[in-house]
Amino acid sequence: MRIVVRIGGSVVANPINTDLMAKYADVIKTIKAQGHEVVVVLGGGSLAREFIGLAKKLELDMNAQDEVAISCSRLFAQLFLKKLGDIACSKVAVALNEAEQCLREDKVVVMGGLRPGITTDTVATLVAERVHADLLVKGTDQDGVYSKDPRKHPDAVKLDRI
Ligand code: UTP
Repeated sequence: MRIVVRIGGSVVANPINTDLMAKYADVIKTIKAQGHEVVVVLGGGSLAREFIGLAKKLELDMNAQDEVAISCSRLFAQLFLKKLGDIACSKVAVALNEAEQCLREDKVVVMGGLRPGITTDTVATLVAERVHADLLVKGTDQDGVYSKDPRKHPDAVKLDRI
């Protein structure tokens, strides 16, 4: 099976939880050893938001704000890639064709952000579409997908199937 796993910043980076990151790495190693093809997308979490705040204070435009947030997610991706060792490609994939190429080499793909104006949730869906993934898994601090952000909207409805 071809699987995309999106690990939210809220899971690994809010605050930075290296134990949890290591556990995720073990899970990915197990899935890979079972013969599956895996793409992992990491979010930038609170670090990304902090840098967006800094960019705003410096009166930088939205594009620049997003660019520094993307760099933060790529930093987490790099850390995770190193933790995976040999089973991962040598570098964080920064384009969809790089992700495709890495899968062709039978390695685990690790990505952060891709381009301004989206989030890593979108990156995960874009890469899933590109590589024709069978499954997309989102690791987050919520227990499912809701009609809107359940942290902000108590009336959000959980969607068991979409
Ligand atoms: P993330 O997707 O990194 O957030 O996007 P996160 O913290 O992991 O998300 P949760 O909390 O777990 O759901 C953070 C910000 O980085 C920019 C956007 O500004 C986004 O809001 N970003 C990220 C991009 O512009 N492009 C990308 O491809 C990824």
